[in-house]
Amino acid sequence: MIHFDRENNVFHFFNEHISYVVYIDGFNRLETLYFGERLKDDRDVLQARTTANENLYLDKKMNLLTPYPGDFSPHSRLEYSDHGEMDKRDSPIVIRNENGSTYTAFEYVRHKIYHGIKPLPDLPSLDAPWKRDEPFYNRDHVDTAEFVFRDVTANLYLHEFISIYRDKDVIVKSFQVENKGKKVQLLRAFSLQLDLPTSDYYFHHFSGEQNRERKEHIEKISHSVLEIGSNYGRSSHQENPFCFLSEHENSYTDGEVIGFNLVYSGNWKMRLSPEPDRSLHIVYGISDEDFTWVLGKNESFYTPEAVLVYSHNGIDGMSQTFHRLIRENLMTAPHTESRPLLFNSWEGAYFYFTTDSLLEYADHAKELGVDLFVLDDGWFGKRDSDTSSLGDWTVNQEKIDLHRLIDHVHQLGMRFGLWFEPEMVSPNSELFRAHPEYVLGMGENKDWSSLTRSQLWLDFSSPVVIEAIHKQIHAILSEYSIDYVKWDNNRAMGEHFSNFYPAEKQGEITHRLTLGYFHLLGQLREEFPGVFFEGCASGGGRFDLGTLYFCPQIWCSDDTIGSMRATIQYDTSLGYPLSAISSHVSAALDDSYRTKVDVALFGTYGYEMNPTKLQDADKEELKRGSEIYRTYHHNVIQEGVLYHLADNDLYSSMISVSQDQSQAMALCFCKRTRPYSYQFTWKLRGLDPKKRYLCHLDHKTYSGEYLMKAGYHFCNDSYGEPLFQRGKTLLMILTESNY
Ligand code: DGJ
Repeated sequence: MIHFDRENNVFHFFNEHISYVVYIDGFNRLETLYFGERLKDDRDVLQARTTANENLYLDKKMNLLTPYPGDFSPHSRLEYSDHGEMDKRDSPIVIRNENGSTYTAFEYVRHKIYHGIKPLPDLPSLDAPWKRDEPFYNRDHVDTAEFVFRDVTANLYLHEFISIYRDKDVIVKSFQVENKGKKVQLLRAFSLQLDLPTSDYYFHHFSGEQNRERKEHIEKISHSVLEIGSNYGRSSHQENPFCFLSEHENSYTDGEVIGFNLVYSGNWKMRLSPEPDRSLHIVYGISDEDFTWVLGKNESFYTPEAVLVYSHNGIDGMSQTFHRLIRENLMTAPHTESRPLLFNSWEGAYFYFTTDSLLEYADHAKELGVDLFVLDDGWFGKRDSDTSSLGDWTVNQEKIDLHRLIDHVHQLGMRFGLWFEPEMVSPNSELFRAHPEYVLGMGENKDWSSLTRSQLWLDFSSPVVIEAIHKQIHAILSEYSIDYVKWDNNRAMGEHFSNFYPAEKQGEITHRLTLGYFHLLGQLREEFPGVFFEGCASGGGRFDLGTLYFCPQIWCSDDTIGSMRATIQYDTSLGYPLSAISSHVSAALDDSYRTKVDVALFGTYGYEMNPTKLQDADKEELKRGSEIYRTYHHNVIQEGVLYHLADNDLYSSMISVSQDQSQAMALCFCKRTRPYSYQFTWKLRGLDPKKRYLCHLDHKTYSGEYLMKAGYHFCNDSYGEPLFQRGKTLLMILTESNY
């Protein structure tokens, strides 16, 4: 809900739990008065205005609040800091006018309040209709205020959109820069500014590399600027756009937490600046490195949506809100209902397969209980290694009879999926030989240079290049009966000069590449509504809300070793629902199949190994996994509520509970061997204290209250061997019992 107090110029965004309050001050700026737990009495919020205290002097030009004119004192907390005045905090939007000046001063002119969120042109957005050209329609579970500001020096308008969900503690923000005057250049176009009254927070962010994605790091904010982001052309392995601030260092249940994410997949940046008065100034959005955008007369630029989640119940309060938001308001594509148990050819066959070997794989996969058989890399062009053929999306008829394989898979009652890497080209390909100008490079008369995994980025900023790829994929999806597509992206962006744009527009390329990715995904998704798209980027290099809008699940990491996986999935699940986290059991040698199955069950489950080489005991283990998946995945993992119990040097543990609290699955993964550890008390959360549960480990029943207050007690007698052995898992399934 949004309440506008006309007399006092105050806008109160609120739902049952939270309030966000902004105020048009005497200088026509939008001040941020409050963000936090719900305020019930509207009269209070006025007290937070900068100009509330008559003894203070507000110098508009200086944006200073002082007891005396000219004195130095803190800035007001604003929705938007002008650039080029005395407020030296980062402005979210920086614009160079035709005369070279970067001074802007935006003043409020009008606003409107409506139901729903307007889908952003060319960008994925929350609650967007399934087909992009469907008209915007009102939705009454979310309300938006659109503020319009006019620059005092140029004919430029800034629109700020602030939305609040009624049923979730979520604020969504974005900007539109509208040019009604002479041509200007955007130098920065972030999605939000957030000024918080204190910087007394811990900052949690998720950094890593390939095979080590999204490790949580916690920094106490002190006096220096913190900055995270990506300029890899994708959201990246190195940092994830999901991050959060917490009052307590690491409490899942208590204290204030503010979570951030961006509905975007390209270069991004967040900068947190503690101010001298200990307030915290945050800007967040598309990275301003390698970014400029020419805005002609009557053109607009839209920034992606930035999502803010507020919790006063610790980290899990935030985490669960993100999960619900992503599941209910972002993944609007069909196919989100039930996730197939998947078999992927990659880690078993790599590039080395024949039609017959894959037919045999399919038979074995069926025996394991698989629903969807996926043929990964190597089926097209002349691709028998990673050195050729990206860009030539025609079936290698000499290598594989794809129709025969698909028919066989379908006859076995499984669905069929195929791998693509649409944004890339191999120098050794027909496409590259015919169109070397289709790749991103260093600029005129210079060769393309950085070659990674023997491949180059196609220039997806150009509709011509996108169409060349679209035509080929469209032909494959039309000719073959394909139910699923895995969309991969196996190198970071290097050079980003485009042969299709003039010099002044080269700064637009990195953003245009991301728009091109969204465009082709969106187009194919609409043309083939029966096809399920899954995201991937060398494992989890593009695990973000932009991709999740199109692909309801993303391959989380190429690392399938239990110990790595357990941490990657645990940390990823702080911001993303388990149903988004694609996790497979592989033949990785480090762990037993028991461990790998237990860990992979906490995600969208699948297998990738040579199934013809499995030992009988291992097959039984996998069948056990398939059975658990079929029985509990939908209610407990996909639609359930996730609680993080602990992630310390000894073990990591979480529990997912069905919405009706009748079923639960708890996982404990041991990271370090403790030779004499024969007992362990496992305190659970999220159960119904009044219900009794049958514990599938010992076939005894316990009340939810007991399991949450006293905890489940393992000891030598009940388990037989030391519990804390590195790489070992405890998987507890609980089902409601009448006894
Ligand atoms: C990287 C992916 O993460 C793997 O699963 C596999 O699809 C390979 N690419 C294929 O090249």
